[in-house]
Amino acid sequence: MNFIVCNNYEEISKKAAEIIAELVKSKPDCVLGLATGSTPVGTYKELISKNKSGEISFARAVSYNLDEYYPISPDNDQSYRYFMNANLFSHIDIPMENTHLLNGEAEDPDAECRAYDEAIKNAGGIDIQILGIGRNGHIAFNEPDKELIAPTHKTGLTEDTIDANSRFFASADLVPRYALTMGMGSIFAAKKIILLANGASKAQAIGELRSDKITTSNPSTLLKLHPDVTIICDKEAYGE
Ligand code: GLP
Repeated sequence: MNFIVCNNYEEISKKAAEIIAELVKSKPDCVLGLATGSTPVGTYKELISKNKSGEISFARAVSYNLDEYYPISPDNDQSYRYFMNANLFSHIDIPMENTHLLNGEAEDPDAECRAYDEAIKNAGGIDIQILGIGRNGHIAFNEPDKELIAPTHKTGLTEDTIDANSRFFASADLVPRYALTMGMGSIFAAKKIILLANGASKAQAIGELRSDKITTSNPSTLLKLHPDVTIICDKEAYGE
């Protein structure tokens, strides 16, 4: 694992966008693994400006997002589909049909999850996976537990995550209790992973990631087993 410790959020966003832009330039038909949450928003803004200035084009790129609430309609402004359209897809030249998210309204969530893993495989696998991190160390919606699940699957959200994510909803009651998420195995199949973290609320999770231990009670610690992971964080999240 390689740590890049930045002075502030802006620096994190610029650094992450540079790495993604390099990939898009060298492989225009790349497969991007994208994340939601507030952390990658700055990176997406940088990518939008690189696209608008003509530095990079997403015209041949394909994307797969990590997760989606369940059940939720794509028109709900708290859905991750809505978030991705609003914060990235509507502002860049990626064809909408090249963007993929798990269907939060799938009648058969298990079949939806299996088909999603299959589609990623058929697309050639994810070239670069962007990750945020929950304050409890969750990755996508792989929550701390005794066991983690490798493939894409339906999962319940922990109280901590419901509480953390309730800031985006009118009240905590409205946060969906379930999600469809890429599993640790699906995430690990990515050729390269960049994890972004900022602020003191992530310091404990990142501290565990910096230690030598691997534990399912902090799913992010499994990233120590992946051969190409870069963590881009600020000093607060790094614990300095
Ligand atoms: C959600 C998402 C995660 C994300 C996390 C952190 O729970 N499922 O993919 O990493 O929130 O979000 P934020 O970046 O807003 O702290």
